[in-house]
Amino acid sequence: MNKTYLVTGGAGFIGSNFIIYMLNKYSDVNIINVDFLTYAGNLENLKSVEKNENYKFIKADICDAEKIEEIFNENEIDYVVNFAAESHVDRSIKNPSIFVKTNVEGTLNLLNAAKKNWEEKDGVYKKGVKFLQVSTDEVYGSLGETGYFYETTPLDPHSPYSASKTSADLIAKSYYDTFKFPVNITRCSNNYGPFQFPEKLIPLIITNAISLKNLPVYGDGLQIRDWLYVKDHCKAIDLVINKGKVGEVYNIGGHNEKTNIEIVKIIINKLNKSFDGRINENLIKHVEDRKGHDRRYAIAPDKIKKELSWEPITMFEEGIEKTIEWYLKNDEWLKNVLSNGYLDYYNKMYKNLV
Ligand code: NAD
Ligand code: DAU
Repeated sequence: MNKTYLVTGGAGFIGSNFIIYMLNKYSDVNIINVDFLTYAGNLENLKSVEKNENYKFIKADICDAEKIEEIFNENEIDYVVNFAAESHVDRSIKNPSIFVKTNVEGTLNLLNAAKKNWEEKDGVYKKGVKFLQVSTDEVYGSLGETGYFYETTPLDPHSPYSASKTSADLIAKSYYDTFKFPVNITRCSNNYGPFQFPEKLIPLIITNAISLKNLPVYGDGLQIRDWLYVKDHCKAIDLVINKGKVGEVYNIGGHNEKTNIEIVKIIINKLNKSFDGRINENLIKHVEDRKGHDRRYAIAPDKIKKELSWEPITMFEEGIEKTIEWYLKNDEWLKNVLSNGYLDYYNKMYKNLV
């Protein structure tokens, strides 16, 4: 019988890539996408699968306990993959409350609904079910020039975003420790690829560059992130759901560390020729640094490689070219996203630049 996945936040960047990945890979899975369609959720992302008979969309807030319970009662759900979140660090600095509400309360609410629906008797659950909490490397805080984040690295989040994700991780862990509720947590590094909302570094730089706008670099631009092509993240999540040991945390990352300024210059170089040299380093503008800005993230993916044989497939050179090409080809998608309130946000954040 088909397994049914309840994917939350499936209209966002990684969630939509995951749904497309799963429906292309398996013909025997059902996917129910539960998304509240905030500014970051866009059903256009799912155009290629919306008619697939194994796919269904339900608009709902993960904080709405009654609605989530109703969804569980009406569907035989085997797996929950919780992507739904407020995901942008800068927004969490301006407005922390919604991050606690969605990321912490929303996760708790999903855990409660799944536990109630799956528990057959005290501590015994329907066979094979699992709750996967999609988390982030930001829960580990910030590294110095050397070293890596392991699953055993102490949690030390700094932004309201990462603190809310850490809280959600700890609640999920507590449900395993206390109730033997079947949970996995994945902690991935920075993703890039198609459908990423253009408030995040890579799509922001691509979309600004092609509109010949300034390219904002926070502070000295020497902060380091560890970039992974989104499809490799989706593949890892699929493996953890199907083969991950219950109760375990898995780090996901491809050892691809780059400073922000390197990323900006790579994108400029890739676009320069097609735009007659008009996209060049003169567009770079160093702006005020992010408050509490984490300096370096770097994931050690040894455990998922060893235990689940996961390997990233897409090297950065190939991934960034595919991503740039995708944004160049999908100007209708971009217009749709920009009309969705993004321009107001951009103007407030960077009113000195545009
Ligand atoms: P995103 O902001 O693109 O998408 C979030 C989605 O969640 C949107 O579709 C939005 O409508 C939905 N949503 C928000 N609040 C909701 C609510 N109350 N109820 C239902 N749906 C709601 O985020 P993303 O970049 O795709 O990240 C997805 C998940 O992966 C997040 O949990 C994030 O913390 C985690 N993560 C992201 C990255 C990254 O680099 N983007 C890396 C590691 C982990
Ligand atoms: O590490 C995983 C995390 O990656 C995820 O958990 C988050 O959901 C996701 O948003 C991302 O967080 P970051 O803060 O690392 O990503 P962002 O794209 O916002 O920024 C990447 C780096 O680029 C960071 O050091 C800040 C910097 N930056 C960002 C923007 C938007 C700039 O210099 N200029 C910018 O305009």
